[in-house]
Amino acid sequence: MNEEVLKEFNKQQFQQDLLSWYYQHKRDLPWRRDQDPYKVWVSEIMLQQTKVDTVIPYFYRFIEKFPTVYELAAADEQDVLKAWEGLGYYSRAKNLQTAVREVVASYDGVVPDNPVELGSLKGIGPYTRGAILSIAYNQPEPAVDGNVMRVISRILRIEEDIAKVKTRNLIEAKVREIISEEDPASFNQAIMDLGSSICTPKSPACMFCPIQEHCKAYADGVQEELPIKTKAKKQKKIPYIALLIKNENNEYVIEQRQDKGLLANLWQFPMVPIEEVGRKNLENWIFSEYGLTVKVKEHKGNLKHVFSHIIWQLEIYKAETKNIAADDPRLRFVSLNQISKYPFPVSHQKMMQYLS
Ligand code: ADE
Repeated sequence: MNEEVLKEFNKQQFQQDLLSWYYQHKRDLPWRRDQDPYKVWVSEIMLQQTKVDTVIPYFYRFIEKFPTVYELAAADEQDVLKAWEGLGYYSRAKNLQTAVREVVASYDGVVPDNPVELGSLKGIGPYTRGAILSIAYNQPEPAVDGNVMRVISRILRIEEDIAKVKTRNLIEAKVREIISEEDPASFNQAIMDLGSSICTPKSPACMFCPIQEHCKAYADGVQEELPIKTKAKKQKKIPYIALLIKNENNEYVIEQRQDKGLLANLWQFPMVPIEEVGRKNLENWIFSEYGLTVKVKEHKGNLKHVFSHIIWQLEIYKAETKNIAADDPRLRFVSLNQISKYPFPVSHQKMMQYLS
């Protein structure tokens, strides 16, 4: 994008057209009912990688359970993960709690209203920092996520790869130039709403766009070609056998995942990485890994779970054990009515249909 595009750009008219559309059409979302910085923060963390419709019920439940920073700071991490169960990217929940504890310990429970302190909190990157400062504190700060990059790259016809940090920085700089100083909270949320309802990734509804006449991509007929984004690598597929191991007391073996990495600290049914172990060695591997003697029984079904960087291919088997307790500290034997107290990844929640 060259300087000429911004020179031709009628900033006042653009802001007015965008904001009057937003004031009329803004979505009634639960985190928009007040400007409580804590609620804005929770919503923005939930909304990363997750759609608005999915987030809404989680947001209500989360705020009911943890209405202020104080309840969240004092909560048991497992309860926080349980409230997040199904939303995915669980490190978001853990970082949020870590950061909220810092707000209580160092800032008297008040979410910082300056970029340096706010940005130093765990899990708050440039996007979330800008969203909180603009939405909760009315500061003219950019809040640039993937959707905003799409909208801005079309309006200003920016043909750089939005997967690059340099392009995000460029777009942030452009937003600083065009953001409304009077109502930055509405400005940023208007761009977000435009991105979800009109300026969609495929077939944008330019005919209904309130800022069509300000859009360089539309003027040049290239809206469908923007934004430019290099493709991420394809996810690696990893096959596992997941075992629903029951003992004679009708209890199932569950395992807590390690406290780092994918799905950290969540619970699951034991999974055997089949490429490393081989199908023939299943029972031996379970014994050497967990100290459990098991007999693998019938195949119950298959499941696939897609993460951002890998795909789990799960074959689900029932199994039996004579053990009634486990020495391995990762494992617990739990009855069917206890199991719902533990936070599980979605794929393992789905396996629970096979429990009896
Ligand atoms: N996506 C990310 N943040 C949002 C917000 N505050 N409102 C609507 N959609 C969003």
